[in-house]
Amino acid sequence: MKTPKKFVIKGGRTLNGEVEISGAKNAVVAILPATILADEPCVVENVPDISDVEISFRILRELGATVEYLSPHTYRIDTTAIRSHCVPYESARRMRASYYFMGALLGKFGHCRVSMPGGCPLGDRPIDQHLKAFAKLGAACKVDRGMVDITTQDGLKGNQIFFDCVTVGATMNAILAAVKAEGLTVIENAAKEPHIVDLASFLNSMGAEIMGAGTDTIKIRGVKYLRGTDYAVIPDQIEAGTYMVAAAATGGNVLVKNVIPKHLESIISVMEKIGVKIEQFDDAVRVSVDGPLVKTSIKTRPHPGFPTDMQPQISALLCLAEGTSMIKEGVSEQRFQYVDELRRMGADIQVDGKVAVIEGTGHLTGAPVKACDLRAGAALMIAGLAAQGVTTIEDIYHIERGYSDMEGKLRALGACIEKKAIIQNETGSQPDQDAV
Ligand code: EPZ
Repeated sequence: MKTPKKFVIKGGRTLNGEVEISGAKNAVVAILPATILADEPCVVENVPDISDVEISFRILRELGATVEYLSPHTYRIDTTAIRSHCVPYESARRMRASYYFMGALLGKFGHCRVSMPGGCPLGDRPIDQHLKAFAKLGAACKVDRGMVDITTQDGLKGNQIFFDCVTVGATMNAILAAVKAEGLTVIENAAKEPHIVDLASFLNSMGAEIMGAGTDTIKIRGVKYLRGTDYAVIPDQIEAGTYMVAAAATGGNVLVKNVIPKHLESIISVMEKIGVKIEQFDDAVRVSVDGPLVKTSIKTRPHPGFPTDMQPQISALLCLAEGTSMIKEGVSEQRFQYVDELRRMGADIQVDGKVAVIEGTGHLTGAPVKACDLRAGAALMIAGLAAQGVTTIEDIYHIERGYSDMEGKLRALGACIEKKAIIQNETGSQPDQDAV
């Protein structure tokens, strides 16, 4: 059992310098299972060092694949010897993206047995649309004691799939299952996130025939054989947005490198409304603040709208702005659990269902807090960096699921941050006075 760790942050320092963005978590957690569909080994580059990748590698190895480290962030994955089609609870429960092994195993072998997924506690997170897509392709799905059994009698057949709601996961899973199905599949009301385009580009680089990814209609003509490929994962738009908000929250000046500005359009638009200055370059953005932060109203939406995965982080920034801001959560069922923790730092936020009203107090105060999910943890990091005094953040395993070396990247920007072991019965204690 690993010793639990906490971040200790001494706030009030501006962030300055450069930060390099890693590969996209929500792309790589679909691309790694997608290697199962390949009939030859694949090389995947720009793989981020995050625990969701470690879990994905563990599941691939448990299935019988070989995963070989070639160089930093580059791995050779050979799934041609896979014999098992079962992903047990112990592995699947640790991340929501384990559900992508359903589409990949079904698409390759015509059957699979995968545990219901785990992941961030964001309210009800059903997979009915995933199972609807598999059924439309001719599979029989049965949920039995937390395991999803999916089988086909005579292989998957292309079909029309219309999603009742815009869903990233089910769109990805439908692509994974359809790419080797017989005939044409048309996915309507598809999600349009950059990571969906990245999965389609990865599969097309192996010889798949996927058209329209990034629009709400995706057409897939099934193929029999997928060759190996050497593919680099896109940069993480949410990691980039997180560091952009951290720079603004501390009044710093940071060049955020290795980004695709097109993927950041809605984030840039909202931050400029708040009064943040953003200069765009080919593969970087520079963030600075040369005036007061001001209130705004935001609703999170599927791409190209403002991403729900940036909602906690922008809330932390709005705590520092002048005036009353409003945030409406338009995607997740419950995504304000972090507000109680921000209140411990002096935030004035009222939540009513899917709406949060933030009274900008202009400052926050360091306190002991706990991360309740991945992006909530990122929001607390941002608040701690901007707060006066010391903040300790526990349950940082949430943060490490989706951010590689966050404390190293922040320290390089001038943050006073340290990762420390939590000594027994110390949880929730006062921040170390002699902290970093
Ligand atoms: C993906 O989750 C991301 N996770 C989430 O990122 C992200 O918040 C979410 O998409 C929205 O962008 C991964 O990619 C691993 P959805 P997912 O299916 O696939 C409902 C992060 O911080 N729905 O788009 O679970 C669902 O309840 C994580 O990186 C159904 O009703 O999201 C939700 O309200 C957190 N039935 C809405 O759709 C279904 O079968 C969006 O869900 C599927 C979804």
